[in-house]
This record gives sequence, C-alpha cells and structure tokens, in this order.
Amino acid sequence: MSTRLIKEGVYAVGAIDWNERRFHGYTYATKRGVTYNAYLVIDKKVTLIDTVRKGFEKELIANIREVIDPSKIDVIVINHIEPDHSGAFPEVLKICPNAKIYGTENARQGLLKYYGISGDWTAVKSGQNLNIGKRTLDFIDVPMIHWPDSMFTYSAYDRILFSNDGFGQHYATNKIFDDEVDFDVLMDEVQKYYANILWPFNMLIASKLAAIGKLNLNIEIVAPSHGLVWRKYVSEIMQKYLYWSSHLCKNRIAVVYETMWNSTEKMARKIIEGITSEGVEAVLFDVTKNDRSDIASYMLDAKGWVFGSSTHDGEMLPVIASFLHFLKGSKAKGRKSFAFGSYGWSGEAVKNIENTVSNVTSFDPSLRVVFNPNKEELNKCFATGKTFALKIKNEK
Ligand code: FEO
Repeated sequence: MSTRLIKEGVYAVGAIDWNERRFHGYTYATKRGVTYNAYLVIDKKVTLIDTVRKGFEKELIANIREVIDPSKIDVIVINHIEPDHSGAFPEVLKICPNAKIYGTENARQGLLKYYGISGDWTAVKSGQNLNIGKRTLDFIDVPMIHWPDSMFTYSAYDRILFSNDGFGQHYATNKIFDDEVDFDVLMDEVQKYYANILWPFNMLIASKLAAIGKLNLNIEIVAPSHGLVWRKYVSEIMQKYLYWSSHLCKNRIAVVYETMWNSTEKMARKIIEGITSEGVEAVLFDVTKNDRSDIASYMLDAKGWVFGSSTHDGEMLPVIASFLHFLKGSKAKGRKSFAFGSYGWSGEAVKNIENTVSNVTSFDPSLRVVFNPNKEELNKCFATGKTFALKIKNEK
C-alpha cells in the first residue's frame, strides 16, 4: 500500500498482504488476501494509530516516511495487540523510542507477554481522551471486538472512528474506500469476516454497539484495521453489525455433508430437492470441496442447518467433524437442524453430529439408511427436506 489520504491530516499507512491465504493459523481462508491498516494523524503531536504484522514493518515505515520522518512520532495508540496489528510495534518503537503509548491495561500486559516491552504506556479506558493538538482522541474500550484488550479510538475533529478489528474485511486491494470496490464483493467479505472472527462475541457486540449509540458520535468515516475504509456505506455496515449480533436469520438452509461412497450425498441431494420444492433458499455444501470459512459465512444468517455424514469406524467422517468442532464455538442461537447419513452396521454418525453441535442448534429426528438409499428411502429424504423447509418458512 502506498500512503493514502483519508481526510486532511489523516493518512492510511498500513500494509497489503496480497498472498495471505490462511489467517488465524489455518482457520480462515482469505482468498482475497489481507490488509493490516494503520493510520498516521498529523497534528501538534504526530500520532500513529496501530501498527502492522511482523514482516511488514518496512512497508509501514516507508509509508510513514512518505508523510513525515517516523522518528517524529509522538504518540502511538494501540487499539489491539493481536500480532497482525502489534507485530511491528517493537521495530516502530526503536525509531521513536520517546513516543508515548496509549491503550488499555489488558493491551499493555499482552504486549509485555508477546514482546517484553510496552514503552512509555498510559492505560486508558472509555471516557478518557488525549488531546494531540487540534484533535482530541476519545478512547472506547470494546472488549472482545476482538480480544479483551481491544478498543476503538474516535476523533471528533475528523469524525473518524478507528475501529481496528470492528467492521473489517479480509480484502487486499490498492483501493482504500468502500465506494471504490464492488459493493457485493465487499459485503460478501465483511460477512465472511464477521462469521469467522466475531460471531462468538455477538452478545458483547450487541451491548457495546448499543452503548456506543448512546454516545451520539458523529461518525462520517469508519477506519478499520483490515480492508476498506467505510465512508459511503457507514450506515449499512452499522446495520449489518446490529443484525448479525442480534442473531437474526433469513429463511434459508445450509445442507452440509461429507460422504464416503456417495450414499450420504444421494440423501443430501434429495433433501435439498425437498427443501427447494417449498421455495426456500438452500445451498448444498460438500465439506471436502468447500472451505469452512465460506460455509460459515452462509450459515451466519441461515435459520436452518442440516448436517450429513456417513459412519466410519463408529464416528462421523473427519472433515465434517473438524467443521462442526469449529462451528460449536460460534455460540449461535435460534437455529433448527436435523442430521442424516448412511451406514453399514452401526450408524453412530448422526448421534455424533447432534452431540457435537447441540449447544448451537436444536435437532429434529435424524434420518439414517443402511448402505445405499432405495427409492422409498430417497422419497423419505425428499419429504423430510420439504417438512423441514415448511418449519423454517412458517416459524415466526
Ligand atoms: Fe486483526 Fe484480532 O486481530
């Protein structure tokens, strides 16, 4: 990323990780790459808001240098310490060792644990602020958006909310603003990001958004630390966060399965035919052919979740087992499900499925067939899909 002006005196100086394809270890498939955004505010006190991932410090420092000598940085605001934002902090601090650092106490402790340094730190929390000249930066602690240390920083002078992980997307591009890219692609990425990063924290996000709403901030720009900066669609992204964090869903159904000798797949196809016969939107996901990040994104606001697996050695198959293990951490609410699958002689997979994700959905009776579904059993799959679709459609 070369430096971009966000507003007079405020520059995006972060880095683009064009080729990152797996984020959070292996958990999140980032097919469009990732950006690590940081912002430089030129005022009486030159202020850097967040840093970037280790390995991108040269890009960050070069970008800062396009605007000002990095040694002139007076203040560093650390909104969040996860290494994708704090990895370059030690290198930046070497260049401006006298900079004053602001962040939560949790952030200070985390930086000490990661890097053994925290600099000249002032712990801040909601209600506290820092005057840097024309601007006063207001700090808003937002624990679990995305970690306990997280905070937002608001500049009333610029009407910018620096939201770190909040409202982000994993989308590497040399564009900077939301209206410079395709809106549908942007919204797909923001939904995937929410599903894969923030879904488990719905309850905290909803209450924090309500609290921020009461502050009556005049937000013209939302500048996250991943992806595009929101200026045209600020209201849309706020509404989306309210919607997702309230566990609201659409009348749509994800049919997620793994098959060994295609018998479970035959069942899945009949089930989705039954669902579709009622005019309910549904998507069939073979977990071995779709990335779990994309499946989770669809499931974020799908009211119906249907899971299928063949039984293998008394267990469900391993790829769907991994996916369900991931899904049970979502803390989703208000979902309806049933499980299905073929088996040879024992048939434990459906019970394994129910036991694994019973904390995030409720199950109707399961469907099992021995070896290969016959015509009558396929008709039953169709009828079960149809009945399930009616339930999803008619439930208030
Ligand atoms: Fe983008 Fe929680 O780090």
